Amino acid sequence: MTVLVTGGAGYIGSHAVLALLEAEYTVLVLDNLVNSSRESLSRVERLAGRQLTFIEGDIRDRQLLDKLFAEHAIEAVMHFAGLKAVGESVAEPLAYYANNVGGSVTLFQAMADAGVRRLVFSSSATVYGEPECMPLSEAAPTARASNPYGQSKLMVEEVLKDLARADARWSIALLRYFNPVGAHASGEIGEDPQGPPNNLMPYIAQVAVGKREKLSVFGGDYATRDGTGVRDYIHVVDLVEGHLRALEVLKHCTGAHAWNLGTGRGYSVLEMVAAFEAISGKRVPYTLQARREGDVAECWADPAKARKELDWQARRGLEEMMADTWRWQSKNPDGY
Ligand code: NAD
Ligand code: WQD
Repeated sequence: MTVLVTGGAGYIGSHAVLALLEAEYTVLVLDNLVNSSRESLSRVERLAGRQLTFIEGDIRDRQLLDKLFAEHAIEAVMHFAGLKAVGESVAEPLAYYANNVGGSVTLFQAMADAGVRRLVFSSSATVYGEPECMPLSEAAPTARASNPYGQSKLMVEEVLKDLARADARWSIALLRYFNPVGAHASGEIGEDPQGPPNNLMPYIAQVAVGKREKLSVFGGDYATRDGTGVRDYIHVVDLVEGHLRALEVLKHCTGAHAWNLGTGRGYSVLEMVAAFEAISGKRVPYTLQARREGDVAECWADPAKARKELDWQARRGLEEMMADTWRWQSKNPDGY
């Protein structure tokens, strides 16, 4: 079976491509390399011992998409392509809506015209807005996000729900990721942010390897066990296993289905720092700073629906997340 993976050169996409190749899928990657490099996919090919087809191009290029669907027997699409920096999305909302919403709609139109109606979409826990009660189940209401990035995810979910209502032949997974971290156990592929990392885990790893001086902890006065923010960190390899399960389940069901991909357990920023120090043997100096705008105090998943319907659950614990992050970062201090 041939799967088109948009954004397959990126952090999560590259891990998904590896898992797909290992599971004997034929993989076509479409990526414009705006936030990634071709090297990630060369490494994926080496790890898998199999080749993929790479097309450097943009999901907003309708002609290119039509050509891809005409020339390859694509049966499903995993759609990772998009911009993901929350702060940048506040400064450049049009770039985010054009890429994440416009690009997605162009992709779905090309799929519809080619008769390809099986889709796994990278959504986010950000669609729950500023939730009050934890854990978050898929039944929790979605809400306006505090930034255009989050808003773009919510908008694409709405587009896909409308699409599934209008045409019952579509099979769509809306996978709501919590906080993906970690790397493949080989240390060959991982997260490679351009410039200063926006997210906690790569920032910690870059401090440990000596690329950054110290971590700024955003907020020490939340109503949490140690005052710092609590999140549900999920190992990226567990996350992509959830995608392969969703792809299987979509073969036998139609409609648009939301599934949380999280562990069901939250850790604070300081717990993350301590766990990373213990595994790596490196010190991670930090200072307490003001809260970051738009952050919630805590957020973790109720993963029961995915466990029941996808027969999937996260298996890798905090130590493995830290060890794999450190192996990737220390083997590749400057990324790819
Ligand atoms: P990433 O930036 O590493 O990967 C995204 C890939 O898409 C990159 O390789 C980039 O070059 C490519 N891309 C961007 N715009 C494109 C376009 N118009 N055409 C073709 N390719 C394009 O990000 P990631 O962390 O791997 O995230 C993958 C997906 O998961 C994204 O949609 C992201 O919003 C979503 N997501 C990520 C997280 C997270 O914390 N990493 C959490 C929730 C959801
Ligand atoms: C985690 C915790 C921070 C950096 C974001 C997006 C979300 C999503 C994933 C895609 C928080 C604290 C962080 C730092 C810190 N992506 N922190 N110092 O904010 O939960 O989610 O990425 O859909 O949409 O909002 O993840 O890793 O940025 O932060 O103290 O330098 O670490 O305040 O408590 P977040 P994060």
